[in-house]
Amino acid sequence: MDTDTHLKYEKENEKVSKGPGVQRMFDAIAGSYDLMNRVMTLGQDQRWRRFVVGKVQDPGSGWALDLATGTGDIAALTRRTYHHCRVIGADFSQNMLKEAGKRFAALEIYWQACDANFLPFADNSFESVSFGYLLRNVDDALEVLKEVRRVLKPGGRVVCLDTTPPRKNLLYPFVRFYFRFGIPFLGRFIARDEAAYAYLTGSTMEFYSADALAALFTEAGFQDVGYQRFMLGTIGVHWGRKDE
Ligand SMILES: C[S@@+](CC[C@H](N)C(=O)[O-])C[C@H]1O[C@@H](n2cnc3c(N)ncnc32)[C@H](O)[C@@H]1O
Repeated sequence: MDTDTHLKYEKENEKVSKGPGVQRMFDAIAGSYDLMNRVMTLGQDQRWRRFVVGKVQDPGSGWALDLATGTGDIAALTRRTYHHCRVIGADFSQNMLKEAGKRFAALEIYWQACDANFLPFADNSFESVSFGYLLRNVDDALEVLKEVRRVLKPGGRVVCLDTTPPRKNLLYPFVRFYFRFGIPFLGRFIARDEAAYAYLTGSTMEFYSADALAALFTEAGFQDVGYQRFMLGTIGVHWGRKDE
C-alpha cells in the first residue's frame, strides 16, 4: 500500500494505528525533509527550535532526550548549547536517523531507534525531554505525554514544538489557503510527495488548539505548563515540569 492509500485507509478506519503509515511516510521524505522545512516556514523553523532548546534549560551533566528527532536539529542544538549534557536523539524512522547521523557526525549524540509510545528507558532517566512535531502523529497524545513524564526525572522539563490549527481571525482565509494549497504544492515539487504534505495540513487542522494541548499537559501530570505561539499562531511551543 503506498503512503497516500495507507493514510486514507487509516482515516476511514480509526482503529488502525497511525504509526506504520507515519513511519513509512517519514522514511520516504527523509532526504528532502530539511529543504522542505526551510522553504515551507520561510526560514523560520530553526528559530523555533532554538526557542525549544532555551526552554529545556541546562541539563548539566545529565541526559537530554530529543524524541521524534527526525534529522536531528533539536538534538544537535541541545548538544551545542549545553556543553556538558549527554544527548539521545530518538525516532522510529530509520531513514530520518540516518540523515541525522550524517548531518551531525561530528557531534557526540546517541541516535536511538524507538517508538515514542513505548520508550526503552527506565523511569526517572532524563533531565529534559524535547520533541518537535511528534504529538500530531501519534494515536493518543495523552498516553505519549504520560510516557514522557515517566522517563523524566522529578523536576525535569518537557518542551514540545508542533503546529496548531490556525485561529479564526482576519488572516484565517489566507493561512488556510496556504495550508490547503501552498504546502501540498511545495510538497509535490520539493519532496515529490504531495500526500505527505497534505497529511501535514490535515493533521494540523484536526490537532488540539494551543489551549487544549496545554490542558493535556496538565492532565498528563505536568506542572508550570505554559506555551507560546509563532508564525501567525500556527506553531506552538508548550512546556511543563515533572513535580519534585
Ligand atoms: C515532522 S518530523 C520532526 C523532526 C524533528 N523533530 C524536527 O524538528 O524537524 C516528525 C518525526 O517524528 C517521528 N515520529 C512520529 N511518530 C513517532 C513515534 N510514535 N515514535 C517515534 N518517532 C515518531 C517521525 O519519524 C519523524 O521523524
